[in-house]
Amino acid sequence: MSDRDNSKGVGSNAMWGGRFADGPSSIMREINASIPFDKALWPQDIAASKAHVTMLGAQGIVSAEDTQAILGGLDAVAAEFAANGVPEDWDLEDIHMTTESRLAELIGPAAGRLHTARSRNDQVATDFRLWVRDAIDQVDAGLAAQQKALVTRAGEHAASIMPGFTHLQTAQPVTLGHHLMAYYEMIQRDRSRFADARARLNRSPLGSAALAGTGFAIDREMTAQALGFDSPTDNSLDAVSDRDFALDYLMAAAQCSLHLSRLAEEFIIWASQPFGFATLPDTLSTGSSIMPQKKNPDAAELVRGHSGRIVGCLTALMVTMKGLPLAYSKDMQDDKPPVFEAAGLLALSIAAMTGMVADTNFRTDRMREAAELGYATATDLADWLVREADIPFREAHHITGAAVKLAEEQGVALDQLALADLQAIDSRVDERVYSALSVEASVAARTSHGGTAPVQVRIRVAEARNALGME
Ligand code: ARG
Repeated sequence: MSDRDNSKGVGSNAMWGGRFADGPSSIMREINASIPFDKALWPQDIAASKAHVTMLGAQGIVSAEDTQAILGGLDAVAAEFAANGVPEDWDLEDIHMTTESRLAELIGPAAGRLHTARSRNDQVATDFRLWVRDAIDQVDAGLAAQQKALVTRAGEHAASIMPGFTHLQTAQPVTLGHHLMAYYEMIQRDRSRFADARARLNRSPLGSAALAGTGFAIDREMTAQALGFDSPTDNSLDAVSDRDFALDYLMAAAQCSLHLSRLAEEFIIWASQPFGFATLPDTLSTGSSIMPQKKNPDAAELVRGHSGRIVGCLTALMVTMKGLPLAYSKDMQDDKPPVFEAAGLLALSIAAMTGMVADTNFRTDRMREAAELGYATATDLADWLVREADIPFREAHHITGAAVKLAEEQGVALDQLALADLQAIDSRVDERVYSALSVEASVAARTSHGGTAPVQVRIRVAEARNALGME
């Protein structure tokens, strides 16, 4: 907000100013106002208010007539907010008072009965849980789409050979399908973390009131059920001051963003000229204003950058919460901006990486060439010596080292060494060894469960397609 004077002027606050002689200063109004961001909660605020007043009506706490007036009025307020946005009046502080004050303008004094047996403390805790629950459902849909893209590309490239790296040094040949399926696994764990967070979140704080519960004969089961919660929370002090659900969400979001960032980093490396493993989609790249030949992986770089901000959001809320005694403190109003920010950044990051995976042109010729470099099949030579010549692995490792050294001196690949040269290193080598030294033979041999062999990758892809309901 740039307007420092967003106020209706002086005088005490209409909602809580009964005991105040003076109204808040303009600084107080500005620092207090959460409406600039918590207006995003309006659909949840309306839904929770409708559930609450329906219950008050059913319990005979509010008359049937007033209940109907309030329900109709809340629908009218919702229609206005949907059509015109939520007005930002700092004197109304937040979404809860904004909704209630508009309701009063529309239906008159009956509106004042809505706030019976509740407080903004249980109200905001309820609204925010509902918002985070929706956010989790949206993330899950996005991650499922990302997994589908990964699985599709992995199926296409179950047998495409690329160098596998450790320390970003060529280690052993792997298949591109196997590499992509590694990210399928990471995303699967992310989805399960979000699902865990959702299951823990899904209890209703509504009816905890300000902190101690209420003397009105409310039915908390009824409101919980109406809002899709599994049950009401069991301790009112905890319920109004618990933000674990937001932290669980941010933790899952942060970890998910780390995975997206690592995937982005792979694409950035692969798209670099010295690697040349991938041509990124034009639609997710930008040009340089000075170097006409450049095509920059900006979307991937921003996904990498956004993960830093999302981790920052988690840190922000953890630090906000760490020193708070029971029950509600106003610090907790600061819970929403980091959650909203993280949710927006995460949704964009997921969408960008889904497009990247779906539309990147993989340069399998370049990958295959690179897999031939760096003596990537040295382990296969050692394994062959163990299996065919019954040499202990440590000794085989040593013999292979000598073969690599010789190949380096001759400037050739391992499978280009003359048999006589290999036998000079160790006489137990024979011509059958060459069948083990090609990159194809190397990947095809790795058939252990979860290994890189095309036959294994195809099994994993089929299982994943099944789990995702593809075909
Ligand atoms: N806007 C407030 C928040 O987001 C609502 C709760 C206000 N409660 C209070 N006791 N002042 O935290």
